[in-house]
Amino acid sequence: MPDVDYILGHSPAEIRRLKLQAGILKPITERLLREAGVAPGMRVLDLGCGAGDVALLAADMVGPNGAVVGIDRNGDALSAACSRARGAGHANVEFREGAAEDFVDPAPFDLAIGRYVLIHQADPTNFIRSAVSHVRPHGLIAFHEIAIYGECRALPPVPLWEQCWNWVATAFRSVMVHPDAAGRMTAYFHDAGLKRPTIFCETPVGAGPDSPLYGWLACTLRSVLPQLEKIGVSTAAEVDIDTLEDRLRDAASTVHSQVLGPMQVCGWTRL
Ligand SMILES: C[S@@+](CC[C@H](N)C(=O)[O-])C[C@H]1O[C@@H](n2cnc3c(N)ncnc32)[C@H](O)[C@@H]1O
Repeated sequence: MPDVDYILGHSPAEIRRLKLQAGILKPITERLLREAGVAPGMRVLDLGCGAGDVALLAADMVGPNGAVVGIDRNGDALSAACSRARGAGHANVEFREGAAEDFVDPAPFDLAIGRYVLIHQADPTNFIRSAVSHVRPHGLIAFHEIAIYGECRALPPVPLWEQCWNWVATAFRSVMVHPDAAGRMTAYFHDAGLKRPTIFCETPVGAGPDSPLYGWLACTLRSVLPQLEKIGVSTAAEVDIDTLEDRLRDAASTVHSQVLGPMQVCGWTRL
């Protein structure tokens, strides 16, 4: 099956966006890792690690006697991940370049995790099967996915907020084979021969001028803008990207709106 186009790219701005996004998602991924049973001394594999945020979080949780390996197809993202691991003083984290499906490591892992990766696969079930192949008997499989379906509402309404999320979703849906992967995690685990996962869902919510959600949305739209222009949905002039974050903040704060981000679905199971 052909690969899904990765429209976010890995520009310096996109790597900054991944870090901003990771700050918003951290408590949710941390809950997933904690509830799955991550413990000091474990060996963890992070599939599609990007700039390394999940790997670094896992490294904190497994401690100096544990180890983490992050894998990604993109070398620029991995360079950022490596220097961040060095900066954080983690000697037990390493990163490898390549497709997760082709990854080979002679030693089994206690846990394999992926965040925001199933949505980017042509065949999520196959991706989960390849994750399983790296995990020891009775080890753990965990995924944290974003729902590219449903609405991201703001109340009182902020039309610009909803318009921007619709643009982002339209860009993703124009290339993704499974934009609804978050909602189908249980079925994918079943199809991959796994036990039914323990699942939970959280939704980022923000209010007031200091919320990071305006920046998250504006930066995400910036990264997918070339795709929106390519498919003729919107133009840089229409989006006015350089002022977008401020306009979102002003529009929401003026009416004391609570803005919702996309649903985050997490699932884990034991082999
Ligand atoms: C949206 S980013 C998420 C990065 C990271 N997991 C996080 O949450 O910050 C998805 C990353 O997965 C990588 N990726 C997607 N499919 C992959 C595959 N089959 N093998 C390796 N990396 C993959 C992309 O290159 C990209 O860096």
